[in-house]
Amino acid sequence: MKLLVTGGAGFIGSNFVLYMLSQHPDYKIVNVDALTYAGNLENLKSVEKHSNHTFVKADITDAKAMNELVGQGVDVVVNFAAESHVDRSILEPDVFVKTNVLGTQVLLDAARSHNIKKFVQVSTDEVYGTLGETGLFSETTPLAPNSPYSASKAGGDMLVRAYHETFGLPVNITRCSNNYGPYQFPEKLIPLMISKALADEPLPVYGDGLNIRDWLYVEDHCSAIDLVIHQGRNGEVYNIGGNNERTNLHIVKTILHKLSKPETLITHVKDRPGHDRRYGIDPTKTMTELGWKPQHSFETGIGETISWYLDNKEWWSRIQSGAYQEYYAKQYGERL
Ligand code: NAD
Ligand code: DAU
Repeated sequence: MKLLVTGGAGFIGSNFVLYMLSQHPDYKIVNVDALTYAGNLENLKSVEKHSNHTFVKADITDAKAMNELVGQGVDVVVNFAAESHVDRSILEPDVFVKTNVLGTQVLLDAARSHNIKKFVQVSTDEVYGTLGETGLFSETTPLAPNSPYSASKAGGDMLVRAYHETFGLPVNITRCSNNYGPYQFPEKLIPLMISKALADEPLPVYGDGLNIRDWLYVEDHCSAIDLVIHQGRNGEVYNIGGNNERTNLHIVKTILHKLSKPETLITHVKDRPGHDRRYGIDPTKTMTELGWKPQHSFETGIGETISWYLDNKEWWSRIQSGAYQEYYAKQYGERL
């Protein structure tokens, strides 16, 4: 089987490439990534010389490049490539629409031209909007995105659905909750707070810190996508989540406790505009139909993640260079 994985130098994409090469060493993976600020070839160092992994630097909005790549005998496209950070989408929405909507359409056209066997769109629970104190997101929950990021992901999802309904393209959409684990860019909550705590810097908690996210260890997300590729019924949506709802304050306090740092480092800052209050995924369909089961509890996953960041300080210190500092100056300008 030959897979085209887009965004495979990012956090989840690189974990997925490593996971698939370990689970299916005979599969060929073409990994295409534009290497934006979030793409990092260091994540793929261990498979640099793997005979079944090829890296191509290209943009998913480049129709000619995508058509050529898919035309080289690709069976399955897995689309991870995206602008993924909500706060950045509030500062600069345009690139989110370009990559997440237009990029998806370009890939769908390439997939359609070459009669691929499966197109998997890696999406997010954020397209469902926000929950109140009770209830969970199911695959039939209406879409109600609240940020430019989630609106652009919903736009991509709608195109995937339309290419199935109109052209019969064999597609699946997966909608996963918040991932954490190795290689996550330190702009996202967990790696940001680990790096701040280690530097004894203030930990910026938005608003009252009682917003809830539903956390899933990245390898468990990868195993679910593997099952969707092989067993997903065409045209279906699959929700992925591990029933691990936690408030942001709980996450931050857990990190401080595990690193033996004081809670006085917690600093409440101005809230994120349009900040979704609570996410919670109902993964019943994925579990019962595909036989998926997450392997990591939150307690073991967060411990492994903190250990990884402690052991790989060079990886994230290198990232926290010029462009990262510029972004932070802008972000804090907005919040403080
Ligand atoms: P990430 O930002 O770490 O990685 C995105 C990757 O896409 C980077 O390597 C980047 O270089 C690449 N990319 C961006 N624009 C591109 C373009 N125009 N052409 C080619 N490559 C491009 O993101 P992530 O957290 O790994 O998320 C991956 C996917 O999973 C996204 O589609 C995201 O919406 C989805 N998702 C993420 C989470 C999460 O918690 N991180 C949860 C659910 C779904
Ligand atoms: O739910 C899936 C989504 O999870 C993915 O689709 C996104 O790509 C991914 O970035 C993530 O979005 P969130 O907005 O939930 O993740 P983030 O890590 O940015 O924030 C998590 C929570 O922590 C959120 O409630 C905002 C809060 N937060 C975040 C940062 C960066 C803070 O309080 N302080 C911070 O500095």
